Amino acid sequence: MRIDVVTLFPKMFEGVLNESILKIAREKGIVEIDLVNLRDFTQDKHRKVDAPPYGGGPGMVIMADPVFRAVEHLRAHGRKESELVLLSPAGRKLTQRRVRRLATAPGLILLCGHYEGFDERVSEGLKPLEMSIGDYVLTGGELPAMVLIDAVVRLQPGAVGRAESIEEESFMKGTLEYPQYTRPRVVRGMAVPDVLISGDHAKIEAWRQRQSEHRTRQRRPDLARKWKER
Ligand SMILES: C[S@@+](CC[C@H](N)C(=O)[O-])C[C@H]1O[C@@H](n2cnc3c(N)ncnc32)[C@H](O)[C@@H]1O
Repeated sequence: MRIDVVTLFPKMFEGVLNESILKIAREKGIVEIDLVNLRDFTQDKHRKVDAPPYGGGPGMVIMADPVFRAVEHLRAHGRKESELVLLSPAGRKLTQRRVRRLATAPGLILLCGHYEGFDERVSEGLKPLEMSIGDYVLTGGELPAMVLIDAVVRLQPGAVGRAESIEEESFMKGTLEYPQYTRPRVVRGMAVPDVLISGDHAKIEAWRQRQSEHRTRQRRPDLARKWKER
């Protein structure tokens, strides 16, 4: 998979893309991630990409033209089929189901806003998929883009050690994951549930299933309702 990130702050990605699973996935060629500096697509001699909003108000708005140019450049250079995603708090909520769908795209072009966001004509003209990572406002689209990249890359075949570990996780089946334990058997007086050391795989499976359903009902009644309606 190929991911292009259009951003004013490419350096923000350095740490995240160069550690752990994302680093290994890039080294293995599972994903190729390119950072595209939006300032390279301005025609302004001072490389300005923002201007005050028409109608007045605080802050600056990212001008549409450099964004059009950046996307046209990418489309003309092998990214014709990439899904265009604009990060915005006003977008659709990023869920595991949407992550799964995005993970099957041949490529992604991620547009990171900053300041007061993009001139509306970016959305009108390019018709990106607008995605929000939650109902709160961040200073820029870079952290949301990193969240999306991380979630999508770990679903690529070969990125995470065992495919089952992904299938078991919260949200993949519509429920939250069951509790996990590791060595030692007792920590500060708290013991691992007996069933997990029984060696009885059918019992363990049934216990995990019950725990998963119980946890979902308790912590996320909204998810539990959806999962019941399926
Ligand atoms: C300060 S925000 C702009 C907020 C915008 N004026 C509003 O009220 O909707 C700047 C940029 O951060 C990104 N951003 C902020 N919060 C986000 C969120 N929850 N999900 C996705 N992107 C977000 C977007 O790219 C946005 O253009």
